[in-house]
Amino acid sequence: MVETDEDVVAIGAQMEKLRGQIARLPVRDPAEAWVPHHEHRPPGYEDAVKTEIPAPQRKKIKAACKAGAWPLLLSGDYGTGKTCAAAVVFGQFTQRPIWARADDFLSAIAQGRGGKAVPIECVNEFGETVTKSVPYDQFMGRVRSRSAVFLDDIATRQPTDPMYQSLFDLLEIRKGQPLVMTTNKTLSELAAMYDDRVADRLAAGTVVRFEGKSRRQKRRKCTV
Ligand SMILES: Nc1ncnc2c1ncn2[C@@H]1O[C@H](COP(=O)(O)OP(=O)(O)OP(=O)(O)O)[C@@H](O)[C@H]1O
Ligand SMILES: [Mg+2]
Repeated sequence: MVETDEDVVAIGAQMEKLRGQIARLPVRDPAEAWVPHHEHRPPGYEDAVKTEIPAPQRKKIKAACKAGAWPLLLSGDYGTGKTCAAAVVFGQFTQRPIWARADDFLSAIAQGRGGKAVPIECVNEFGETVTKSVPYDQFMGRVRSRSAVFLDDIATRQPTDPMYQSLFDLLEIRKGQPLVMTTNKTLSELAAMYDDRVADRLAAGTVVRFEGKSRRQKRRKCTV
């Protein structure tokens, strides 16, 4: 109960102390960002994992995963099921795979390489998503060591030089390790947008083409 001025001062001091303690609460490993807690899973993950990858593509993807023929590039027109297929593969990795939108991810790496820390989202002890800055080396260490890295929609726009370098670095540090990308571009379009060195590294893994009409369109027609 507050009875005297001293009590008010004491409460103020106690609150100050508590604030300090809260500020010092450990934020969960900042490199938790891009991991599959609910906000860092593929969009619509729950539905996506239920989709059945069309047989020809499924066969190739399975063979690539089994042989470790990384990187795996899922390429094709919009709406043909690339992101859903990637989400299905993502679901196979239980050891904290990374899922990110490609452009955001490559920009973040590029920003870090420029001398700034990498801005990432992470979850604190209260379950709140907060943005933290992580030293570049620490971030890349995590990118290297995670079970798998999934980049959705690479090459949606012409890459800047730093983004080109980020993709190149990523291909190098994930060499032989699970790395899955989706794109609307063909391999030769990627060669034109990035360069032959990047395209060559992609071609050394597995490229799976998704063909046909958009399944989005089909869904809409079905429900009307
Ligand atoms: N195998 C499948 N069976 C049924 N529906 C599917 C299948 N794959 C995807 N879809 C549906 O088609 C729609 C588009 O799928 P998805 O987002 O995977 O396409 P995408 O190739 O990644 O498209 P974009 O290039 O525009 O990103 C989604 O609504 C999804 O639920
Ligand atoms: Mg997609």
